[in-house]
Amino acid sequence: APRYPRYTREEVGRHRSPQDRVWVTHGTDVFDVTDFVELHPGGADKILLAAGGALEPFWALYAVHSQPHVLELLREYKVGELSPEEAPPAAAATGDPFAGDPPRHPGLRVNSQKPFNAEPPAELLAERFLTPNELFFTRNHLPVPAVDPGSYRLRVEGPGGRALSLSLPELRSRFPKHEVTATLQCAGNRRAEMSQVRPVKGLPWDIGAISTARWGGARLRDVLLHAGFEEQREGEWHVCFEGLDADAGGAPYGASIPYGRAVSPAADVLLAYEMNGEELPRDHGFPVRVVVPGVVGARSVKWLRRVAVSPAESPSHWQQNDYKGFSPCVDWDTVDYKTAPAIQELPVQSAITHPRPGAAVPAGELTVKGYAWSGGGRPVVRVDVSLDGGRTWRVARLAGERPPPERAWAWVLWELRAPVAAGAELEIVCKAVDGSYNVQPDSHAPIWNLRGVLSNAWHRVRVSVRD
Ligand code: HEM
Ligand code: MTE
Repeated sequence: APRYPRYTREEVGRHRSPQDRVWVTHGTDVFDVTDFVELHPGGADKILLAAGGALEPFWALYAVHSQPHVLELLREYKVGELSPEEAPPAAAATGDPFAGDPPRHPGLRVNSQKPFNAEPPAELLAERFLTPNELFFTRNHLPVPAVDPGSYRLRVEGPGGRALSLSLPELRSRFPKHEVTATLQCAGNRRAEMSQVRPVKGLPWDIGAISTARWGGARLRDVLLHAGFEEQREGEWHVCFEGLDADAGGAPYGASIPYGRAVSPAADVLLAYEMNGEELPRDHGFPVRVVVPGVVGARSVKWLRRVAVSPAESPSHWQQNDYKGFSPCVDWDTVDYKTAPAIQELPVQSAITHPRPGAAVPAGELTVKGYAWSGGGRPVVRVDVSLDGGRTWRVARLAGERPPPERAWAWVLWELRAPVAAGAELEIVCKAVDGSYNVQPDSHAPIWNLRGVLSNAWHRVRVSVRD
């Protein structure tokens, strides 16, 4: 057998364009597919999305590749093999607190490298109901902690309960595994559009700070009841979460949810150790994270170290002084974080994933695709689509099964096909309606806020139709 040169993932990652050559990996093999890019039946643009990294998460979205002739074809382009994974340099050794962060797929759209914040390419976002783990959006405030699963312990405590310290095997074996398909969305999803109205403070997320996975783990409810906490409590109580990631002053990432949601069997709150059937990836909270379905992503604390029942909300910066909504009239001189409620359930949301802004689409039948979701388990009951900026509307077809009532934790993918004439300029618009008949506002100006959160106005995409 021929001996191939060895390359690191980082070296492969430098080959992301025809000028630098286009390299991809499959298993531990490295391929230079530069000469195939223009021949690809799925289009050159699609291959380039995977350039510099692994093909598997992209092929998971398009089953046409699971045929033997595809791998045969790929084999002709083999140029090397991946060298065995080197251990990441310890943060302490390099002085860079982010040196121990995990490797990521170069196909992600990065909004900030340190801390790592990235979203999947918008055109792939809604191709499949479940987002592959490697493409799931990542929102980190701090370096990713390195957790030894052998010595990991989850502490559970608070007045009225026994303190518990659970190892990973204990969490897995003492409580039934519960699975929930849930969408996580960051409060800052679609912030880039809101900042077109007036600048806001925050990462410029496009439409991809949202993804869907099937989560597996123990129910938070079961763990709390096991620790002796009651089904119902008089007065105001919260369940506070702390991560193993901490800021320079030693304060951990933290957040809380109301007690009632934490113990409700219908709320499906998980202490998850699995994501799409795999163990949690490091970026998504290995070994254990909270998943609070229907609630802003910020409450789904990753790298969970402590669960505490408390009469007050989490004292964390991210519960008290961030992730809150304000009036458009509030600025940095007048903002009062103390009196505004923390965001929990999110409002109804939708976006167009295909076509992309500025695209030139062929005349004939146009397929418009996207996602829609609402907080609190409210189902999306309808998505309206306009091709003329909102003057006339059509109803999109919703894909997938009907979710159980009041537990619609996952997005719906939708599609609309419509004839379009050569030379036309289209302003495609979508808006969703949830089970409470909540609707999205038509523009961002009236919901503008200084942090750019809760950005859920009608999504608008301008395209032209080719002659
Ligand atoms: C179709 C190969 C990467 C998306 C195909 C087909 C082949 C192929 C042979 C035709 C299959 C058939 O109909 O029997 C490859 C190779 C790749 C690659 C060798 C990498 C070097 C990608 C990536 C994406 C993608 C990264 C998406 C991000 C598609 C799509 C089709 C397709 C959407 C269907 C096209 C259609 O039927 O209209 N690919 N592919 N491919 N590929 Fe790829
Ligand atoms: N948990 C910890 N410990 N640290 C964090 O920075 N980010 C939160 C939440 N949990 C965060 C966290 C925010 S703001 C969001 S939107 C989600 O995690 C994102 O989860 P994901 O990175 O798995 O998509």
